Amino acid sequence: MEPTRFVVVANLKGGVGKTTLAVNLACALAVVAGHATALVDADPQRSATLWAARRRLPVEVLAIPSEVGDGSVHNWMWAVRRVRGRRARVVVDLPAVLGELTGAALLFADLVVVPTTLDAIDVEATRRTLRLVRRTRLQREDRGPHALVVPNRVEGGFLEVRRALARLRDLGEDMAPPVRRHALFPGGFTGADWVGGMRRFSRATRDIRRLLERVEARLAMLPESLRLHPGG
Ligand SMILES: Nc1ncnc2c1ncn2[C@@H]1O[C@H](COP(=O)(O)OP(=O)(O)OP(=O)(O)O)[C@@H](O)[C@H]1O
Ligand SMILES: [Mg+2]
Repeated sequence: MEPTRFVVVANLKGGVGKTTLAVNLACALAVVAGHATALVDADPQRSATLWAARRRLPVEVLAIPSEVGDGSVHNWMWAVRRVRGRRARVVVDLPAVLGELTGAALLFADLVVVPTTLDAIDVEATRRTLRLVRRTRLQREDRGPHALVVPNRVEGGFLEVRRALARLRDLGEDMAPPVRRHALFPGGFTGADWVGGMRRFSRATRDIRRLLERVEARLAMLPESLRLHPGG
């Protein structure tokens, strides 16, 4: 059986779309790619859990906030690693600002998805987040995790967007096709569904499918073994 792949959605900056992309990506992994998928909500604010509260999401959402057990990051890491079970994919939605938690998640992530808007302040935070990723790579035998920067809430004219995307490319990591600003994304929260569940053929759903393809393509490139997985 293929090992469980952990996809961690992280950015040290708040409000860049971590929860939005984590929920929608997890649902696409389950519904479109057909993987047994769980979403771990590590945010003490429990945004993803609230999203799933109406039970319309096609994935299981497990709240494992940072203060689990004795509150140590080590404890949290073990709790998340235990989610594996028979699942092919585990998506982890991290809170912003908790650098220690992000650092711990990067130790077991197979892939880290880093959403960012094109605003300069978010791009700067993304740079800091990627620095943390690179530091983690020095600690891991397999030199992982691979990072995928996801431009999110993108809007504006062709040239403007192209220039902004070029700045993101300067961050020196892999970049996914942009997810554009779309009213279905905030709508998902109130409707308690992912975008594909609300509208199969909207632009928002197409953007999430493209992201899914990139994520799957990256995961397919991972070696089967040689990973430094606490508990694994
Ligand atoms: N592509 C998009 N189009 C339109 N709105 C979006 C998009 N992505 C995210 N949003 C909206 O932006 C806001 C912030 O998104 P979200 O809560 O996912 O960010 P976050 O990074 O998880 O924030 P936090 O750091 O507080 O956990 C939400 O209102 C969400 O609906
Ligand atoms: Mg969030």
